Amino acid sequence: MKVNRLFGGCLPAVYLSRGLQTKLRGNPYDKIEEKVIKKATLFLYLLKKEGVVINMCGIVGYIGTQDVKDILLNGLEKLEYRGYDSAGIAVVNENGVHIFKDKGRIAHLRTVVDETVLSTVGIGHTRWATHGAPNQRNSHPHQSSTGRFTIVHNGVIENELELRQEFLPNYKFISDTDTEVIAALIEHFVLEKEDVELAIRHVMSLLHGSYALGVIDAGNPDVLYAAKNKSPMLIGLGEGFNMIGSDAMAMLQCTNQFVEIEDEEFIKLTREGVTIYNLLGVPVKRSPFTAELDASDIEKGTYPHYMLKEIDEQPYVIRRIVEQYFEDGQIKMDQKIVDAVQSADRLYIIAAGTSMHAGFVGKQLFEQLAGIPTEVHISSEFVYNTPVISKNPLFIFISQSGETADSRAVLVKIKQLGYPSLTITNVPGSTLSREADHTLLLHAGPEIAVASTKAYTAQVAVQAVLAAKVAGKSDLDLSRELAIVANVMESITDHKEQYEEIAKEYLTQRNCFYIGRHVDYYVALEAALKLKEISYIQTEGFAAGELKHGTIALIEKGTPVIAIISQEAVNLNTRSNVKEVKARGANTVIISLRSLSSETDQIVIDDVHPLLTPLVTVVPTQLISYYAALQRDFDIDKPRNLAKSVTVE
Ligand code: F6R
Repeated sequence: MKVNRLFGGCLPAVYLSRGLQTKLRGNPYDKIEEKVIKKATLFLYLLKKEGVVINMCGIVGYIGTQDVKDILLNGLEKLEYRGYDSAGIAVVNENGVHIFKDKGRIAHLRTVVDETVLSTVGIGHTRWATHGAPNQRNSHPHQSSTGRFTIVHNGVIENELELRQEFLPNYKFISDTDTEVIAALIEHFVLEKEDVELAIRHVMSLLHGSYALGVIDAGNPDVLYAAKNKSPMLIGLGEGFNMIGSDAMAMLQCTNQFVEIEDEEFIKLTREGVTIYNLLGVPVKRSPFTAELDASDIEKGTYPHYMLKEIDEQPYVIRRIVEQYFEDGQIKMDQKIVDAVQSADRLYIIAAGTSMHAGFVGKQLFEQLAGIPTEVHISSEFVYNTPVISKNPLFIFISQSGETADSRAVLVKIKQLGYPSLTITNVPGSTLSREADHTLLLHAGPEIAVASTKAYTAQVAVQAVLAAKVAGKSDLDLSRELAIVANVMESITDHKEQYEEIAKEYLTQRNCFYIGRHVDYYVALEAALKLKEISYIQTEGFAAGELKHGTIALIEKGTPVIAIISQEAVNLNTRSNVKEVKARGANTVIISLRSLSSETDQIVIDDVHPLLTPLVTVVPTQLISYYAALQRDFDIDKPRNLAKSVTVE
């Protein structure tokens, strides 16, 4: 069992369109207007109607022998990366159910929790408002009217209005949430069916939409119930305790043994064991798996930010990729994938953002190594502006999360057209992985910072492995070259002060340019995205030779221009472009490979194979972005308006 299965399908926090996010997040919690929330809710409903699967919020639940409050709160902290505006926990003991919840951060929730209440069973939740404003009343957990059932819910119930009308016409709801409808329905059907398990499964059969549920029954506090459909949830197993969580990270503090849950399954957890049932109540057998990571993989440790930790992890990721994909110096890879690429007359790489930038480097690799014509497409463009497709195409989806809705829309479309597909992702079990014909894994480990770093380099490296395998015999000893890459990466990350200085000295203006030619242009695109998304400095990545065709007009005294030079064929050309901007007042920085460097270059990197240079030239640019954001005191791991997985089109 591989590490990534742990957060398989689980990374997707649910987010609205970027426009709506901006509106919502731009407001302090209590200033968000009800009407904006209503609009957001309607928007989500429309998206659901269009078949966009939306996951959101975070859940953790525990039944065991230890006091549960800290277990829940620590678990919720691990889910913070998903984005949230309120949080809450419910615990049950001989005095009944105790709920502590409020809008705001987990740190605030800690101050709300009554330390004197002891309990060994509980559920917790982080909420990102959809149905109703982010306030205490709408925060989870929610209860049925008698207080018997207390639930947390991740997902969106599409038919909540119909359910209210049909089964709960006179019910007095306290919150504006769809979740409260589920709690009310469970109680309603428990009265009718006189069996809690039957009632919950019946409610599941009535719900249209997505849900991961944790349910406490005050009438039976020695059991915790859970249910799942389309929203992510895993079971965590332990000695004398069992857990549920939106992802493994929420549970790693207690266990590294997990069981996956499929859609439309119902789970009964006690201290002694866990039983999974299908909707009909038939028990389902499923083997547990062991996490190949420990809590330190998802802890920042001594790092101030996940982004810095993930930048530093890149040499290990490259070595892990070599470990996973090589045996005795030979590439080992599912032959079906190799055949699929070899039999294609053209590859179509579909991706967004950083993953698309990795795709551009991939194009170079597939064309140079394997001789297969390759196109790279922005996924959100491809669906509505589809190009002429070759006779025997293969579609390659590159996605860290495997959940990006824009890419999924393309996958749905090309599947309808009958074309084969391969997903390259960090997350097995993710939507793009499940729905494509083949999957190649990145083995990068959890990437928590919103700004992607190690996933990018893993995407480039895995594409290199695939291209080399498809190419068959070649002079390129890839495992050796990747080992060199890992060492060079280390030599860069070992000298961080240099990048801190450059950020301080050069990134003093509100704009910046990265330029490069050839494959360095693709790295310039990625470098620019990284800088703008976390430091909010307006940055453009430009083909160095194209600058003079218009954009050079923007260069004025002090404009920072950072050039990347890793390809001999364009070394002198790029240097001429640097001179051009310097003559117009730009403050220039050159990042070059040692064999191509000149004395005045500010950043000189040891040489790697010419096809693999993006793996190393990108690292200084990641560090420059990091320090630029640090110097501005921005929230580096969670930049404004952004989500780790963009699960809406
Ligand atoms: C930027 C970044 C985004 C993602 C993009 C696609 O740092 O992370 O540009 O690359 O949203 O996401 P995935 O790779 O999950 O499909």
